[in-house]
Amino acid sequence: MRFGIQTLDGFEFCGKTVLCRVDMNQPVNRETGTLKSTARIAACVPTVRELSDRGAKVVLMAHQGSDIEYQNFYCTKPHAKELEKLLGREVKWIDDVTGPAARQMISELKKGEILLLDNVRFVSEEQTLFEMKLALTHEQQVMTQVVRKLAPLADLYVCDAFAAAHRDQPSLCGFEQVLPSAMGRLFEREYCVVSELMESPERPCVFVLGGAKISDAFIMMETVLENKAADQVLTGGLVGNILLAAKGEQIGRRSLDFIYRSNYGEYIEKARKLYERYGGKVMTPLDIACVEKGERKEYGLGNVPEEAAAVDIGSDTIKRYREVIFGAKTVFTNGPMGVFEEKVSESGTKAVFEALGETKAYTVVGGGDSVAATAKYAVTDRLDYICTGGGALIRFLAGEELPVVKALRYGAKKFGGQ
Ligand code: 3PG
Repeated sequence: MRFGIQTLDGFEFCGKTVLCRVDMNQPVNRETGTLKSTARIAACVPTVRELSDRGAKVVLMAHQGSDIEYQNFYCTKPHAKELEKLLGREVKWIDDVTGPAARQMISELKKGEILLLDNVRFVSEEQTLFEMKLALTHEQQVMTQVVRKLAPLADLYVCDAFAAAHRDQPSLCGFEQVLPSAMGRLFEREYCVVSELMESPERPCVFVLGGAKISDAFIMMETVLENKAADQVLTGGLVGNILLAAKGEQIGRRSLDFIYRSNYGEYIEKARKLYERYGGKVMTPLDIACVEKGERKEYGLGNVPEEAAAVDIGSDTIKRYREVIFGAKTVFTNGPMGVFEEKVSESGTKAVFEALGETKAYTVVGGGDSVAATAKYAVTDRLDYICTGGGALIRFLAGEELPVVKALRYGAKKFGGQ
C-alpha cells in the first residue's frame, strides 16, 4: 500500500481477469484521424506488460477525446496497434465497450492476453459526466452500464490513468466500489513525484500556461497566484488571447469570435478579476502571429488587423519569455503557445520548449499536448519531469483530493489486498 492505495504488489494476477483503466488520450491529426503522439501509450506499457507477464487476462479501457469541441473524439483502434508495437506482443481490439461482443471476447481471454475495448466515452454515461454538474456519486456509478456489464466478468480493477484522475466517471471511480482495486505503476510513480513537486519549489518559480483547455488553465492560474507558488505566470495560446482580450487589446475579430463560439466569453471577465488581484505577476504576449495567405505575419499589440486570428505568440514575446525562463529556478509548463502542429505557427511553442531543454532550472511539463511538444522538439530527455497528466496535475497541485484517488482509497479499505 502507498498513500492508502493498493499497488500491484498487493495482488496475485495469474489467471485473473483484470479490468485496467489507462489514459491513452492523444492529440490527433484532425484531417486523417491518426495519432500525433504516442507518448501516453508508451507510458502505459510497464503496467500492461507486468499484468500480462504475471498471467492476468488484461482488459484495457481507455478514452480518446471528449467531444467535438477538440475534434479528437475517435475510436481506440490506432492505440491498440501502437501498443502492440511498443509491447512486442498481440493486443486484441474490439469496436465495442459493454455489448455482448465485448463481453464474449473478455470471457474467452487466456492468461497473459491483452484486449483493448473501444473508446469508453462512446458509452453515454462516461461522456455526460465530463465536467458536468450532472454528477453521480461513486455508489451510483455502480449502477451505470459500464460497471454493471463489465464488473461481473472481472476479478480485479487496476487504474493506471493518472492523467484522468480528476474525472469523476464510472470507468475511473465506479469499479473500486465493487472489485478489489489497485493503482498501476504509472499512477504510482506520477502520484509520488507530484506529491513532492510543489512542497518547496526553488525560487523564482515560473508557470508557463497555454493551450486551449481554458478551465484547467484558469484553475491553475488562480491557485498558484493565490497560494503564492508562482512568482510569474507566462501565458500563450488561447489562454493568452483571452487575457489580452480582458485587457482590451485588439486580438482580431476571428480570435474573439472563436472565444465566444467556444463559450469562453465568461473567462474574459474572470481574467479581468485576475488582473485586478495579481496584475504584475501575469505576463501576456507582447505581439502575436497570424497566418495570411499561408505566410506568418507578426503584429505588435495596437497594430493587429481587425480581421486577424492569432495562432502563435510573436518574436518579441518569445524573446521576453525565454529571458524569464532562463532567470527561473523552477519552471512548470502546461499547454503550447500556439498551433504548434503547423510549421507556420510553431515558433512560439518551439522556442519555449527549447528554452526548457536548455535552462538549468528544474523543469516540469504536464498534459497531452505538452508531452507531444517535448517529443516534437526533442527535449524529452533534458526535462526533469514529464507528467502525463495536465488537468489532473493542476487539480492535484490545487490541493484537491482527486476523485480517482478517493475511489482507490475506498477500494483499499473495503477489499484490502490479498
Ligand atoms: C487529459 O488529456 O487531460 C486526460 O486524458 C483527460 O482527458 P479529458 O480532459 O478529455 O477528460
